[in-house]
Amino acid sequence: MNSSVPPLSAGAAAFVRRAHGLYIGGAFVPAADGRTFATYDPSTAAHLADVPYAGPADVDAAVAAARSALDGAWGALPALVRSRLLVRLAELVEENAAELAEIEALDGGKPVSVNEAMDLPAAIEHFRYYSGWPTKIEGATIPVYLPDTLCYTRKEPVGVCAQIIPWNYPLMMAAWKLAPALAAGCTVVLKPAEQTPLSALRLAELVEEAGFPPGTVNVLTGDGTTGAALVDHDGVDKIAFTGSTEVGREIAARAGARLKRVTLELGGKNPNIVLADADLDAAVAGAFDGIYFNSGQTCIAASRLYVHRSRYEEMVGRLAEAAAKAEVGPALDRATRFGPLVSAEQYDRVRGYLRDGVAAGATLRAGEVPAESPEGGYYVRPALFTDITPGMRITREEIFGPVLVAAPFDETDEAVALANDTPYGLAAGVWTRSLAQAHTLAARLRSGMVYLNSWASGDPAAPFGGVKASGIGREMGQANLDAYLETKTVWTNLAP
Ligand code: NAI
Repeated sequence: MNSSVPPLSAGAAAFVRRAHGLYIGGAFVPAADGRTFATYDPSTAAHLADVPYAGPADVDAAVAAARSALDGAWGALPALVRSRLLVRLAELVEENAAELAEIEALDGGKPVSVNEAMDLPAAIEHFRYYSGWPTKIEGATIPVYLPDTLCYTRKEPVGVCAQIIPWNYPLMMAAWKLAPALAAGCTVVLKPAEQTPLSALRLAELVEEAGFPPGTVNVLTGDGTTGAALVDHDGVDKIAFTGSTEVGREIAARAGARLKRVTLELGGKNPNIVLADADLDAAVAGAFDGIYFNSGQTCIAASRLYVHRSRYEEMVGRLAEAAAKAEVGPALDRATRFGPLVSAEQYDRVRGYLRDGVAAGATLRAGEVPAESPEGGYYVRPALFTDITPGMRITREEIFGPVLVAAPFDETDEAVALANDTPYGLAAGVWTRSLAQAHTLAARLRSGMVYLNSWASGDPAAPFGGVKASGIGREMGQANLDAYLETKTVWTNLAP
């Protein structure tokens, strides 16, 4: 691993060193019981900062602040002002993009150049896209059959929303969650992941600077216990969660018991199908980025590859060659394309799957089982398994690391059956020159998203999410705005 890590910018260094507070009711405060927890730099495993560990009293305070903003200053704002505030927040994130990209790289291990090129623009455009919505949220007049009756609907915010996000795209996930909720007029208690709390706290400063009324957005740093307390809190009307399917199931059950609104964006074991007539250059590039981008720590990672037998050896050989050449390095090095995994736990987990695959008899065509104890950061080289069977854990389970499994197929029906043989249903891909094949398979694949001759295309206007164990509801677009709105029907007797 060669690297040359430039010093942190003054802004990012000052932020990381600062005493960090929970953002509650427009103020940065310590946890009520004074507890803190540490966050680490995955590129070096070094201690970065301590942040408050929000307990039950902080959850109470944040939910109360969100309720009072909803019933008070935020709830009273005209839609146009909500829109302007979201525009201002987008501008502030843009003005501070370089600093945020560094904070994100330090805390989560994603290369700074990737943050600059992808995560930051995606977050900014998300705020911009939803800034257009507040003035377009309209009810309807309903042509009912009762005489002398006016019936109309109002679209009202669901209320106080708990938003719980993961560590793989911390700032972008915060934007994906906050923007539609605020556009709809909801208030929010946001809980970033314990591995990556810092960018959400910096974003909270920008929310404050933008001028949102106190309590509109609250940020609680903490772990799963904090998240569970939010889910169970009687003052929370809706839960929006992105993370593991295991925790998603638990949240859905708890939300169901209380009949709270819930949207879940969960895991995937996403199949990528390459037909015999595919443009192989494009398919190799798409499959490579599809799995190894962000070191595989992506819910839509293209983690299962099925290639027509006539192209299989060539495709797998080219992928193995490219994976062997891929250099891993520290996130702040501008030359780094593949950073470390986020944490020691994730390193152990991915290492476990690599060991398991080898023990189960799969062939490791690229990559290696990393050392038991990482030296410095949590680096895992891009790996590729062939000779897999459908029952292997590496074939069935979400690894969330840079590990691709590949198998050949003979008939298209077989490829569809292999692709759909999973509890998940988030994303799927098809590479072919035949439009008819592409669209026929798009309809047959059981997933929330299908990429044809591409992987991971996205836009704030286009719905994102999964079926089956990959979640409930959609992020982005009008679909996610609707998830933060209730419909009220108003009946009026015009001839009393
Ligand atoms: P996780 O699902 O435990 O954590 C995600 C978020 O949920 C964090 O903010 C965490 O504090 C919170 N949380 C944890 N337990 C909770 C509970 N009982 N109630 C409410 N909130 C809770 O994910 P984790 O442990 O960080 O990663 C484990 C695996 O999950 C990964 O290896 C990967 O397979 C999957 N994952 C999937 C993601 C996705 O985007 N679909 C994102 C992150 C992880």
